[in-house]
Amino acid sequence: MNKGRMILLGAMVLLGGTTAGQLMAHGDVVPQAVDTTALPEIGQDWLEKNPYSGNAKAVEIGQSAYGQNCARCHGLDAESGGIAPDLRYLELGETGDQWFMERFRHGSAHDGKVYMPPFGDVLGQKAGWAIRAWLETKHEG
Ligand code: HEC
Repeated sequence: MNKGRMILLGAMVLLGGTTAGQLMAHGDVVPQAVDTTALPEIGQDWLEKNPYSGNAKAVEIGQSAYGQNCARCHGLDAESGGIAPDLRYLELGETGDQWFMERFRHGSAHDGKVYMPPFGDVLGQKAGWAIRAWLETKHEG
């Protein structure tokens, strides 16, 4: 568990159960850890191309990881309700991979306002590529 996460959990305990529950309802929650031990190791360096594209196990893990970490903004089953971009239309292939990872790792903020939190350090690249592998199966357009 990293330091930021411990502080956040500590704050939730201090705020008490009800408040933490309300925070969750607003979607402002700690990222949910993703178990990626079943996936092939891909090293520490961030890759530019999805190593799990078409990997059935990765698609399964990615679907669940998406549901826990991304769906609240990007929509159930990747169908956006309009709060955040519809990820079914993300470009396939390496250009799409790179853009996906850019946002997954660093999130998005403008003028001091966070539109999307960064996930790279908390979930790791195996989880990121697994989500991308699942999104590829949902691609449209
Ligand atoms: C708190 C809401 C929120 C959460 C949670 C969230 N996102 Fe986002 N995401 C956004 C918003 C808003 C944008 C648009 C940002 C912008 O245009 O600057 C975005 C943009 C993106 C983009 C770029 C889409 C494009 O068409 O340019 C990708 C890829 C993405 N998110 C992936 C993810 C993944 C994967 C997760 C889960 C691990 C996730 N997001 C979780 C709000 C969120």
